[in-house]
Amino acid sequence: MSFRGPHLLGIRDLSRGDIEEILDSAGTFRAVLDRDIKKVPTLRGKTIVNLFFEPSTRTRTSFELAGKRLSADVVNFSLSTSSVVKGETLIDTARTIEAMPAEILVIRHPCSGAAELLARSVSACVINAGDGMHEHPTQALLDLYTIREALGRVEGLRVAIVGDVLHSRVARSDILAFKTMGASVVVCGPPTLLPPGLAEWGVDVTFRIEEALKEADVVIALRMQMERQNAGFVPSLNEYAVLYGLTRERLDAAGGRMVVMHPGPINRGVEIAPDVADSRASLILNQVANGMAVRMAVLYLVAGGASA
Ligand code: NCD
Repeated sequence: MSFRGPHLLGIRDLSRGDIEEILDSAGTFRAVLDRDIKKVPTLRGKTIVNLFFEPSTRTRTSFELAGKRLSADVVNFSLSTSSVVKGETLIDTARTIEAMPAEILVIRHPCSGAAELLARSVSACVINAGDGMHEHPTQALLDLYTIREALGRVEGLRVAIVGDVLHSRVARSDILAFKTMGASVVVCGPPTLLPPGLAEWGVDVTFRIEEALKEADVVIALRMQMERQNAGFVPSLNEYAVLYGLTRERLDAAGGRMVVMHPGPINRGVEIAPDVADSRASLILNQVANGMAVRMAVLYLVAGGASA
């Protein structure tokens, strides 16, 4: 089977072969980005609309640049959901935009399932750039790409995911992606920030970070969601940092050989110590650079691959 549009809604829909095809294609586009002229005519004449209903810097910029590097026309819409009935507005907005016309819609939305709702309502290709607490497939794909680039493989590795898993669409997509590619996953965080039934996802679960780091080849720190601190999930950010922060001492105690990742934006000194974020083991900036190549590959493949 091979991955060809019309949509990319979640990692759940992808086979191992699909994922490999996307990563291999991203490798080709990565080479383009290393050239002097970082542009190919692949999507010339196509229109991509970025529909962002949530604040985002790196994902939106990454999709925007990816589209431009493929020579598509890229339009950005930043929209608010605060005062409207979400489903109606989303579909009405999308239909209006589609009438322009646009071939590819990239959507980021605070509601889980928004990307699928959109895909059912329009004839354009839909790419999920993060929907609520559900999925963020291009982040998981760029994480896989970055690990494969740094360590040569994903199969057989041990990946630790630490932090606010409950609210994290990145964690959901990452877990599905790592398991599909044959890695084993251990998830760690305070009990209040781990979703119930997590063990049924086929991962190991621990509340102790020292336990999670033991034997890990890769550790992914998740953003501690500052905006949720009033909800009482943890007593304070300081206490969270003391108990779950990724520090040099903790990495050294676990053997110090693992690579460190973070989807960004990072809260320095909370989920990750500044010296760890800036260390040689950190792949955080590689993730950003690879994100563009992965998004170029996804845009190319949803648009029909070779025929685009
Ligand atoms: C993530 C997101 O928005 O889901 N960030 C991102 O895409 N760069 C993670 C987060 O916001 O914590």
